[in-house]
Amino acid sequence: MYGLINEAMRRHVVETAGPAAWSAVASRAGSSQSFAALHYYDDDVTYALVGAASEVLDRPADELLRGFGRYWSTTVGPESYGDILGATGTDVVSVLHNLDEMHARLQSLYPDLRPPSFDVVAGDDGTLDVHYRSEREGLAPFVVGLLEGLGELYGTPVTVSRDEAASGPHYEHFRLVPAVVEPA
Ligand code: HEM
Repeated sequence: MYGLINEAMRRHVVETAGPAAWSAVASRAGSSQSFAALHYYDDDVTYALVGAASEVLDRPADELLRGFGRYWSTTVGPESYGDILGATGTDVVSVLHNLDEMHARLQSLYPDLRPPSFDVVAGDDGTLDVHYRSEREGLAPFVVGLLEGLGELYGTPVTVSRDEAASGPHYEHFRLVPAVVEPA
């Protein structure tokens, strides 16, 4: 994946666990310590970083991926790609509706991009069905975190569940339900 993904992971580990922890993660993964945003790195580098972070930080890889997804939606997206995100939508539904177009537009800047695809179907009861397709595997927890983070970013928190029975190697079905917020 493009270096901006690995670079965001570096930032996340540094901010949550400190620079020494990041050094240990990169060494264990056999990767460089930092990444050029516009350089394409083999997906193996990203997966190795997740595996190494799981060992160094002693946390399950799925939990780290989910946290990284939230961090991307609440921090990296708005801080580093605010213009792009703002042009994509103004709430969870519009961002998800326009996400494929947004990733496709990035292709001019990132010619080797192999983006995922999202379909979103709104139910009458406020739920959202999100259908995610990717040529990659194992990123479902990352998507859960991205979706939770979008809810947080737009002030409409959601509970995300994954329909395991419907999901396969390159397809995942998630259901978003508005979170019940306890009155203060
Ligand atoms: C403005 C913000 C965003 C930018 C600049 C961006 C850009 C990118 C880039 C460059 C990649 C790497 C793909 C590759 O190298 O082949 C990627 C992957 C991905 N993006 Fe985005 N993205 C943004 C927002 C989002 C949002 C809001 C979501 C979902 C809610 C999302 C979902 C994903 C997923 C799941 C992947 C992993 C690749 C895969 O599933 O195969 N992105 N994005």
